[in-house]
Amino acid sequence: MSEPRKLYVRSFGCQMNVYDAQRMTDTLAKEGFVETDTAEDADLVILNTCHIREKAAEKVYSELGRLRVAQEEAGRRQMVAVAGCVAQAEGAEILKRARGVDLVVGPQSYHKLPELVADAERRGSNRRAGIVETEFPVEDKFDFLAPPSRQAIARRGPTAFVTVQEGCDKFCTFCVVPYTRGAEVSRPVAKILDEVARLADGGVREVTLIGQNVNAYHGADAGGRPAGLAELVRKVAEVPGIARVRYTTSHPRDMDDELIAAHRELPALMPYLHLPVQSGSNRILAAMNRKHDRELFFATVERVRAARPDIAFSSDFIVGFPGETDEDFADTMDLVERVGFAGAFSFKYSSRPGTPAATMEVQLPEEVKSQRIYALQALLDRQKAAFDAACRGRRFEILLEKPGRFPGQLIGRSPYLQSVVVEAPREAIGTLATVEVRAVSTKSLSGDIIGGEFFAGGAGVEPRLVGQSETVEA
Ligand code: 5AD
Ligand code: SF4
Repeated sequence: MSEPRKLYVRSFGCQMNVYDAQRMTDTLAKEGFVETDTAEDADLVILNTCHIREKAAEKVYSELGRLRVAQEEAGRRQMVAVAGCVAQAEGAEILKRARGVDLVVGPQSYHKLPELVADAERRGSNRRAGIVETEFPVEDKFDFLAPPSRQAIARRGPTAFVTVQEGCDKFCTFCVVPYTRGAEVSRPVAKILDEVARLADGGVREVTLIGQNVNAYHGADAGGRPAGLAELVRKVAEVPGIARVRYTTSHPRDMDDELIAAHRELPALMPYLHLPVQSGSNRILAAMNRKHDRELFFATVERVRAARPDIAFSSDFIVGFPGETDEDFADTMDLVERVGFAGAFSFKYSSRPGTPAATMEVQLPEEVKSQRIYALQALLDRQKAAFDAACRGRRFEILLEKPGRFPGQLIGRSPYLQSVVVEAPREAIGTLATVEVRAVSTKSLSGDIIGGEFFAGGAGVEPRLVGQSETVEA
């Protein structure tokens, strides 16, 4: 029998790409490909790319260059595929710009990978005839992508992403997503529940429902009527084995009353909400076509806080959007001061071809963007540090996910996605533990386990407590 072929997938960008990488791996596993964790010994390398900012998009070309040099030095030929949003946006251009690419495949065509790879293999070294597949097919790719095997689920650990919605109809003027991922599509409730049940059966305890506009979810329920995200979250939380649910990424306009009520009523729904606002200036929000003002954002934050007082927020910000003045930027800083974030992602505006903002008149110089991002990130870092510091002495549940750096340690996640280092045996991975937080550093918290599923005799194990854990250095 011939050796199994080896597959290496490198993902850039968002969590949807992480999910897609798993689906591609599962689908190619059926064709005899086994995963490897280095590009060097792979027969097929897939670069799963991101187009959101110029820097992210350019990475694919440096990566392709590196791959080619490595192949030449090793004197071997690998098949190279470019997937993801750069594949969708640039298509055949990639074949012109980079040598050594056999296949370019957009996110809506991943279910065709087996035939595309077979086709590319038949063409062999005739790389000038690289294959490009960037259609938005009529069939639903999710119906054809293979589910993960039990071993794959176990290997990936007790948390999982599940795509429930893809694409975007909002058309923010800076953003490529409506073009790379297409129009908004929601998966039917039953199919998502099947997928979650399968994951739970394999040991998954926490699912993050993902979509570019996840709180605009409106998938069909059993009767064919559209269900909102609140209903979906409730049903997912009821799947046996599932202890925690999260969802991301949301738009402030789509935080409806039902979803906010779910935060009040569902203990499994984690009290940490990623709610991108992008800017605190009404003028800039309008130019971005965000379809809401800062007042709506403040009101939304208050509504969610009223429903779930222990909730914490994270957000996305863009500085240096075309025409952003010092006053506009001061409004962003003011919004951050007023809301207080437990975490955030912030970016310098990056002009993206084909988006309306790219042709707006007043593009800002790089040093203005740099000054602003520096000030904003300093403020956001202070807020994050203050939030983390306030966790010292608190007790909360963590989901034990993986071994820590030192023997006897495990790393879990708090409800707020903070990494928490504890002393616990490996067998406790996949269980919830109650922890009292003892120490806080910039990267993680550490604490003592004072109870939990494993430690209180859950899963047939004798009750036991573990001792003092060490403070982790930053
Ligand atoms: N420039 C900079 N940041 C961007 N984002 C999206 N498009 C751009 C762009 N053109 C950021 C937004 C979004 C996050 C995923 O990436 O903050 O929420
Ligand atoms: Fe990047 Fe957006 Fe594509 Fe995700 S969907 S990979 S963030 S461009």
